[in-house]
Amino acid sequence: MNEAFLRACHGEAVRPVPVWLMRQAGRYLPAYQELRKKIDFLTLCKTPELAAKVTIQPVDILGVDAAILFSDILIPLECMGIGLDFHEGRGPVLNPPVRTEQDIERLYPIDPDTDVSFVLETIRILRKELSGKVPLIGFSGAPFTLATYMIEGGTSKTFVNTKRMLFESPHLFSRLMDLLSEVVLSYIEAQIKAGVQAIQVFDTWAGILTREDYERYALPYVTRIIKRVKGSGVPFIYFVFNGGHVLEIIRDSGAEVIGLDWRTDIKTAISILGSDTVVQGNLDPCALFLPENELKTRVDSLLRQGLEAKAHIFNLGHGILPEIPHEKARLLVELVHGLSS
Ligand code: CP3
Repeated sequence: MNEAFLRACHGEAVRPVPVWLMRQAGRYLPAYQELRKKIDFLTLCKTPELAAKVTIQPVDILGVDAAILFSDILIPLECMGIGLDFHEGRGPVLNPPVRTEQDIERLYPIDPDTDVSFVLETIRILRKELSGKVPLIGFSGAPFTLATYMIEGGTSKTFVNTKRMLFESPHLFSRLMDLLSEVVLSYIEAQIKAGVQAIQVFDTWAGILTREDYERYALPYVTRIIKRVKGSGVPFIYFVFNGGHVLEIIRDSGAEVIGLDWRTDIKTAISILGSDTVVQGNLDPCALFLPENELKTRVDSLLRQGLEAKAHIFNLGHGILPEIPHEKARLLVELVHGLSS
C-alpha cells in the first residue's frame, strides 16, 4: 500500500510529499455528475456500494495519496432527530432549528451501529477495495460547527442565532455541545472500528469566534474527543477554516496534524505552531484557475515552506470547487509529486 500519507501523519518528512484534496469526490468530476443525474445526494451517501464507488473515483482519476470517505458532516445530525435536506443551490437545510431548551430535549444521542450502519458498511467495502492502494480517511464535523448548523437551521452569514444562544443562554449551549460531543465521539469510534486509518475533524465555522470564545466554547470539546480516541493509534487531522487567529491555541488540541486554510501561509503558521508540527494545506482552491506555470510557482512555494514543518501533507486550503476542470486537479497532484521528489 502507498503509506506516504500515514507516514507523514506520524511525523515523517516523506518525499514525494503526499497529497489529497478536501472534497475530492464531488461535482467537479464528470463521473460523479453522471451518477448524480440518477440519484440524489443523500441517497448516494446512504448506498454503501455507490458511496464507495464515488470515494474511489478521485483515487483513480487524480492519483491522490489518500481516499476520504464519501459522506457528509451533517449525516449524524439527522439521526439525532432533526430533518436534513440538501436543496440544489441553497445548501443544507436542518429543520426544525434548535434554539430552545425544548428543542434540545427533543434530540437524542446516536447508536452508530444501527443509525449510520450504511457509513460503517461503506468503510468496510472501501477497505477491501482500497487494499494495496491508499489509506482511507474518515471524518466528522467538530461539535461547534455541527451546533451552528443545528441552531441556524443551515449555514449563515452572521451566525446570529448561534452567538445569541452562546451569550444569552450559555448553559443551554453547553448542553447542546455536550450532546454533540458524545455523538461525534461515538461516530468517530465506530468509524475507527470499521477500519478508517485517519480521521479529519472539520471545524468549518469555529473561525467566526474571537480567540477567547474559541478557547472557551469550541476547542475544549475537540480536545476532549481527541484525548478519548488517542489510544487507537489513528492519527487526527484538525482543520479550522478561517482559523489563523486561533492557531496558537489549536497547537494544544492534541491533533497529530493541523489543517491550514489558505489565508495563513505555512511559514507563518509554523512560526506560531512550532517546527515540530505536521501541517496540511493550503493552496487557495481558486489558484487552480491559474495557468500551469503560475500554478507551478505557487505549488513550489508551498512545498518549500512545508520543508520547515516536521512533515507536510499537501492539500487545498478548503474544498475543491465544482467549477474547477478536473484535469487541473490532476495536474496539481502531478506537480506536487514531481516538484517534491
Ligand atoms: O471530501 C470529500 O470528498 C468527502 C465528502 C465530503 C462531503 N462533504 C461531500 C459533499 C466531506 C468531507 C464533506 C464535509 C462537509 N459538509 C463540510 C466540512 C468541510 C467544508 O467544506 O468546510 C461541511 C461544512 C458540509 C456541509 C455541506 N454539505 C455543504 C455546505 C454542502 C454544499 C451544498 C451545495 O450544494 O453546495 C454539502 C453538500 C455536499 N457534501 C456535496 C458533496 C459532494 C455536494 C452534493 C451534491 O452532489 O450536490
